[in-house]
Amino acid sequence: MKIAIVGTGYVGLVTGTCLAEVGMDVTCIDIDTKKIENLKNGILPIYEPGLEEMVLRNTRQERLHFSDDIATSIKDADVAFIAVGTPPGEDGSADLKYVLAVARSIGRHMNNYMVVVTKSTVPVGTARKVRAAIEEEIILREEPLEFDVASNPEFLKEGAAIEDFLKPDRIVIGVESERAEDLMTKVYKPFLLNGHPIIFMDIPSAEMTKYAANSMLATKISFMNDIANLCEIMGADVNMVRKGIGSDARIGNKFIYPGIGYGGSCFPKDVKALIKTAAENGYEMQILKSVESVNENQKSVLFNKIQKHFEGDITGKTFAIWGLSFKPKTDDMREAPSLVLIDKIIEAGGKVKAYDPVAMKEAQHILGDKVEYAKDQYDALIDADALLVVTEWPEFRSPNFKVIARLMKDNIIFDGRNIYDIKGMEEAGFTYYGIGVKPHYHSAIDLA
Ligand code: UDX
Repeated sequence: MKIAIVGTGYVGLVTGTCLAEVGMDVTCIDIDTKKIENLKNGILPIYEPGLEEMVLRNTRQERLHFSDDIATSIKDADVAFIAVGTPPGEDGSADLKYVLAVARSIGRHMNNYMVVVTKSTVPVGTARKVRAAIEEEIILREEPLEFDVASNPEFLKEGAAIEDFLKPDRIVIGVESERAEDLMTKVYKPFLLNGHPIIFMDIPSAEMTKYAANSMLATKISFMNDIANLCEIMGADVNMVRKGIGSDARIGNKFIYPGIGYGGSCFPKDVKALIKTAAENGYEMQILKSVESVNENQKSVLFNKIQKHFEGDITGKTFAIWGLSFKPKTDDMREAPSLVLIDKIIEAGGKVKAYDPVAMKEAQHILGDKVEYAKDQYDALIDADALLVVTEWPEFRSPNFKVIARLMKDNIIFDGRNIYDIKGMEEAGFTYYGIGVKPHYHSAIDLA
């Protein structure tokens, strides 16, 4: 089976590498020559646990190839995945110019029957546009070439992408012919060993599935953030409420952790795009609009707590920040709540000394010298007026609080991810703020 993957971003690279890992002959294609050169030398454009070793191994064993030449690489492929970016336009809708440009190149260079699969998250109706773009090119060639389009949304979580790809909960594929269904079954058969299914459906439903999944998850988070904020006002503890509702299997205990808002490359973009698609078609996504505005407000809750504590004046105060990436185990800074918080602190006259286990370089690209970068998590604390926990990296979970207390000027912790126990913190002499939590009679007992 010969596979071409166009676009060596996050999705393309993980997909290509994992398909090579199970024995397929994969070529990853990108117009960015420098990126391709780097990949040939084992230098990856992103950080993802386990990916580098897997790329090196499969390149060495000649199952994984990299090329900047779509014309030759696409020729004999059985399946071509389009995994290029769909950046949000000004109005929030996904910009399809890269996807359709790739479709046209495929139409110009394909040589035999092929299934062309959209892997990027694209609005409902995109596969139809991809088909039209390829057809236009084939007509110009005056050759009787056959092809099918398919939609195969990805559900990879950053930081766990390889595991998610190799052992998926489900694989969703939208097809419009049996021939395409048979070929796609062959591609994904090696991943079905854990008993989870391939769900074949029509193309618009597959396209919608991705948006519905991400929007549902974003909704759970915004809902819990709203509940957490209300808990604070009413004197309830969201950790108790979370355990209380999460043990109902219909609700489930995953994705109900309050925090400082969701970020990353998927939720913000997909929620916006679905609102936009609906509006263009005369429908208002009322719940999703609220999900989005709750999330925007939530990015400010930690800053509001800081302002309240310091009575509106943080001029000259230094804030240690632990965690910059939008979530642990990734260097991705896209839509990271840390960016909003840092801007607000600086605007109000405060100083920031930040540390992140992996995202320091990525953060420097965006933040430049606006913040000071610490050598390690303890270095960030030296003479700090407060510690702000922004991303729940495992190494921040049980630090040495005696060392923390010694290094800091004042022992105040604003915990944006509720990773510490409020009662324990207060006993250790810290002034502690979490999200929607309060000291609780039962808080030392883990009821989960
Ligand atoms: C997500 C989806 O999980 C994945 O299926 C999809 O393909 C791409 O988008 P990802 O963006 O990598 O993956 O991160 P995820 O682990 O889902 O977290 C998203 C955001 O939600 C993070 O900012 C995280 O901090 C936040 N979150 C998650 C919460 O605030 N509370 C929770 O309980 C869970």
